[in-house]
Formats: sequence, structure tokens, C-alpha cells
Amino acid sequence: MPHDDAQGTAIEEVARRVARAKCVAVVTGAGVSAESGVATFRDAGPEQGDALWSRYDPMQLATIDAFNADPELVTRWYHWRFSRCAHVKPNPGHVALAELQRVVESRGGEFVLLTQNIDGLHQAGGSTGVVELHGTILTWRCVKTGEHVSIHDIPFDVFPPRSRAGGLLRPNVVWFGEVLPEDAVERAQDAASRCDVFLTIGTSGVVYPAASFVQFAGDRGAFTAEVNKDPTPLSHMVDVSIMGRSGEVMPRVVERVRGIGGLDAGHT
Ligand code: OAD
Repeated sequence: MPHDDAQGTAIEEVARRVARAKCVAVVTGAGVSAESGVATFRDAGPEQGDALWSRYDPMQLATIDAFNADPELVTRWYHWRFSRCAHVKPNPGHVALAELQRVVESRGGEFVLLTQNIDGLHQAGGSTGVVELHGTILTWRCVKTGEHVSIHDIPFDVFPPRSRAGGLLRPNVVWFGEVLPEDAVERAQDAASRCDVFLTIGTSGVVYPAASFVQFAGDRGAFTAEVNKDPTPLSHMVDVSIMGRSGEVMPRVVERVRGIGGLDAGHT
């Protein structure tokens, strides 16, 4: 596929910075999973979902109030979301990020992947040490005991599902109005405070604190870049903004990083 010069130049700049970096941090959003067929968070609706769910606003369902008011509806919706992504596979964007981690780490660098996604596709694509800022749909927890249960161990023959202790089971995701997991925020803040390069990929950059980490990194002098299909509020804040699909752009970034050589390559 022909690549325009501007995108090629931007990819070269990002690759050069990554190749020299001692610490690379990345935050991803639903856009990275879009090419696996998983609807992005704000796109889920008539053109994305089954008619049954198209009349519900995801923003109204991903809340603790909605769960308390109608745990059956909310758990059915999350089970439906899971059923739609249970059989999807990681796409070239996920695989490229796992490969980038291997390349950076093989050269003695540090690579921290933060994700807002709850679908587990980064791990399935080979990434390790993934920081799930918004939790995961793959484990649910008992509201009574806090016990975690793998979604694969929940029969879903009744809704809402209950734990062995009889408490309601809810997805282990962060809902609107809830705080992010403390350890995830600490790891994200640490990465943003130490990285030489921070990449934001496939996210609309409108949800905080996830959107704040790239800004914090840039403010303290890290090189920042965005890869996204559409412009976002972050596009004018980063050093380089690449408009494109992550499944197409990220493999090209990895290929160039490999070609440029690492810290010890003596590149200026
Ligand atoms: P959004 O749906 O808000 O944004 C997805 C972004 O990905 C958009 O800017 C698209 O332009 C872009 N995009 C779509 N396809 C792409 C592709 N193939 N390659 C690159 N970019 C692509 O999803 P998020 O930014 O992830 O929280 O939303 C952030 C959070 O909002 C979600 O984590 C969700 C919600 O609160 C939870 O579900 C807990």
C-alpha cells in the first residue's frame, strides 16, 4: 500500500526516538482493537451492535448506578460485549506492540504498555506486563466478598450471575464515576515520569486520567507521538501526530526501529 511522504517521515522520526530510548511508554485505547472487529467504545451502537443493544447508550450502562438499579441488564450487556470479543484475535497493531516491546527490551530498554481496553487482546498478542487502567472483562468480582472469578468459570445460566458466596458478580472494569485501580495508576504515573518516549495509540484522548499521562510525559520533556485514525484533543499536544490505522502504522514503526539499531548502534 503506498505510503504518503508525510506519514513516512513521521514514522521515521518516531522510530528514531524509540530506537534511542531507554524507556518507552505507550497508552492504547479501543482503536487498537477496532481492526480485530471489536467496536470502539463510542462507536458501539446501531452500526456496531445487535439491534437489541443499539437502543442503550453504553455511557448509561457502564456505571455503578446502572448496575445497582438493574444488575441483570448491566451483566447481560457485559456478557454480550464479551461474547462479541471472545472469538476475536489480536490484529497486526497488537502484534506490532508486542514485537516493539521485545525489540526495546532486547536492547536493554524498558517498555511499559498501558491500556484502557478491557478485552485482553494485548496479552493475547504477546505483550507482557500490560497495565489495564480500566480493568478487564475477563475477570468478574463478587460485590460481597471481593472474590475474583474468571469469566470462563461463570455459567451465565442466570442473570445477574452470583458467586459461590451468593453475592452479585460484576465485571472487574472501571465504571464511570469509579476510581482506577491504584496500582495501575501508580505504574502509569511512574512510566510517564521516567520515559524518554510516550506513544498514545487508538484513543480519543477524552477520558481521564488515562489521557493525562502523555501530557505529563510531554511536559517533562519526553518525546510524545500519537497514532490514531482521526484527530483528537491530543493531536495538537504531541510532538508528532500520525493519522492512520494502528494495524498499518505500528508494523512500519517496528520495522524501522529494528532497522535503525539500538542505543549501542552509536546513532546520533
Ligand atoms: P473511543 O471509542 O473513545 O476512541 C477510539 C479512538 O480510536 C477514536 O479516536 C478513533 O478515531 C480511533 N480509531 C478507531 N479505529 C482505529 C484504528 N484502526 N487505528 C487507530 N485508531 C483508531 O475509545 P477510547 O479512547 O479507548 O472505558 O475510550 C476511552 C474510554 O472511554 C474507554 O476505555 C471506556 C470509556 O470510558 C471503559 O470501558 C471502562
